[in-house]
Amino acid sequence: MLNWCIVKENFDKENFMLNETLFHLANGYLGVRDSFEEDFRGKLKSVRGTYINGFYETEDIQYGEKLYGYAEYSQSILNITDVQTILLNIDGERFSLLEGNIKSFKNELNVKEGYVKREILWESNSGKVLKIDIKRMVSFTRKELFIIEYNVTPLNFNGEIEIISIIDGDVSNITASDDPRIGTANAKHLDVIRCEVKENIGIIENKTRNSNMSVITSCTHDLNKENRLNIDKKEDKIIFKFSLEAKENEKIEFVKYSIFTDSVRYENNYIENLEILKEVVENGKAFYFDAQKVYLNEFWKSSDIIIDGDEKLQEGLRYNLYQLLQSVGKDMYTNIAAKGISGEGYEGHYFWDTDIYILPFFMFTNSFLAKNLLMYRYNTLDRARNRAKMMGHLKGALYPWRTINGDECSAFFPAGTAQYHINTDIAYSFIQYYLITEDKEFMQNYGAEVLFETARVMFDIGHFNREGKFVINDVTGPDEYTCIVNNNYYTNVMTKYLFENTKLAWEILNENKEKLQELISKIGIDEEEIKAFEKAKENMYLPFDEKLKIHPQDDSFLNKKVWDFKNTPKENYPLLLHYHPLTLYRYQVCKQADTVLAHFLREEETTIDIIKNDFEYYEKITTHDSSLSTCIFSIMASRLGLKEKSYDYFINNARLDLDDLHHNTKNGIHTAAMGGSWMGVVFGFVGMRIKNGELHFNPLLPDKINKIKFKINFKHRELEITLDKEGLDIKLISGNSLDVYINNNKKTVE
Ligand code: BGC
Repeated sequence: MLNWCIVKENFDKENFMLNETLFHLANGYLGVRDSFEEDFRGKLKSVRGTYINGFYETEDIQYGEKLYGYAEYSQSILNITDVQTILLNIDGERFSLLEGNIKSFKNELNVKEGYVKREILWESNSGKVLKIDIKRMVSFTRKELFIIEYNVTPLNFNGEIEIISIIDGDVSNITASDDPRIGTANAKHLDVIRCEVKENIGIIENKTRNSNMSVITSCTHDLNKENRLNIDKKEDKIIFKFSLEAKENEKIEFVKYSIFTDSVRYENNYIENLEILKEVVENGKAFYFDAQKVYLNEFWKSSDIIIDGDEKLQEGLRYNLYQLLQSVGKDMYTNIAAKGISGEGYEGHYFWDTDIYILPFFMFTNSFLAKNLLMYRYNTLDRARNRAKMMGHLKGALYPWRTINGDECSAFFPAGTAQYHINTDIAYSFIQYYLITEDKEFMQNYGAEVLFETARVMFDIGHFNREGKFVINDVTGPDEYTCIVNNNYYTNVMTKYLFENTKLAWEILNENKEKLQELISKIGIDEEEIKAFEKAKENMYLPFDEKLKIHPQDDSFLNKKVWDFKNTPKENYPLLLHYHPLTLYRYQVCKQADTVLAHFLREEETTIDIIKNDFEYYEKITTHDSSLSTCIFSIMASRLGLKEKSYDYFINNARLDLDDLHHNTKNGIHTAAMGGSWMGVVFGFVGMRIKNGELHFNPLLPDKINKIKFKINFKHRELEITLDKEGLDIKLISGNSLDVYINNNKKTVE
């Protein structure tokens, strides 16, 4: 199965943490790192982690000087009860990859069937040879379920074998380090409040100390051979010992079923957990492995991108799309964390990454999942309203820069709360969802309210200056190396778009008078306010430098000195780990695409010549220290006809985690960059855009690729799009005929 599997054929001790991330399994709810059944704690660098999306602990943020309105408390995703451990004793010898002789080793993630399989041929110090096959799965169809299938075959001996399975509630998070992108202040967040054995089922309940959340983990086993079971229950862990007589060439099949239920989703999680476990055991493992295959088959049918002629890219893309599916919260409590559910980087927080980088993939391929992500934003609107009040806005909503539960938890406001563009990003995704689905009801019920409330805050932070221009002061744009500036081009352009679309939302709302009245009485919006937004939109100030013919990133940007790139040693990147923020702020140096991103999202605001000037200007001063950057440069290089450049940026982005290009995948995957790789193909190489509500294409196929093929949903149609050396072909798979534009020429797809 070419390109559907990621394979490692050696046991890589040095990169163990990296592989724990790359081979982690998740389903949007539960995530388990691939820490192996043998316990390597204390022997190898490992983060043995299991997480639930949206399950977190809070702690008061300790500031040296706390000023008004600072975020009050942190939110950190928690490492919960560990069920990964299965140990093997063979006549008193312990199976370990760190001892004896590894005759062969293979670890494989299969993204078509949704499992990780490890195959080992191992010889103990005394010469006993064993074949060990381990298959793990976090189920997409039974989200609480993690299965380990553990098969052992003695190849040259008969003897006593002991299988030891552990469920361990004594868990902690990694602690803060010098890298602001990982770690929490404290490590131990969970107490064990229940540890019991009931009919050979081990049950542990963990509870947080502050956030008042709990999680029940239960485990049970299945063994195909007669055995003696001894259960040792300690205060916070349960050890199951299965002893049996093994025979040469007879396979021992051991299965461990684990169920995780948290108090957020389950009213009575203890009872529900055990009911689920019972059902799972009755159905048996094959049932869930089969269901996993069917589920993924459906996913790939609508979401796959076929790349012909470039295997590395194909592998990277499929891996990324699979990870997005693994990471996306599929209920109204959760979103997609910057690191998915694969590690503790960024503490499990949700950022604008979802709205600008990841939602396009889901909106065009799976509107159900996209809707859930938008609903998460809608469901946290009240918290955003409270935040707006705290920030001094009399009305409206201000979404948090980073969060799990909807409250702001960014402790560094210049690169956090000051990024008011988060409001425009969220609004942008609601508008795109409407343009793609034509779902008026969704706009009337949810979207309009989000648009009006976010627009109110953007209106409040701006004002009409002496020339009558609408200006927005003291905000931070996407580029986190330039903070608290006046008239960040990106923020102003995106606010303009938001203001413009409040009118559209108002019109759609007017088609349902009942809903309109409901919203008027709820938030007091009226036509006057929509007109005020319109006036601000008409007069929006967009910085432009006549001399250089570029859009400065903000009012002060061009007055700064250009960073001395020539004399910056390679090892000083990413700059954020080697220079005080103020040093960075004083220079023209960008962490990531900012103005270039604005051009991608709102191309109609300027001319293609200016876009080219900007691309060339910002390219020279952008470090791409953020993983959100190269995909945007790739897309815009395609837009400008720079074939090779767009490919180079793209390959850098598409294999960012697989090749560990940012050297920090050990702390978790980069979900925004993964969404960016889908965008790189669809918006970059194929050059797709929505303009005036219609689909436009400006394709540019890289020389190294023979063919690209994928499907999208657009306005109740399913389209199959193929780009090859002959050109672009668009097939209508379902729905009515549709007019599209290829290089500005109208074509009817029938
Ligand atoms: C980037 C942000 C991003 C965050 C999470 C930071 O390095 O600068 O734009 O939201 O990572 O991915």
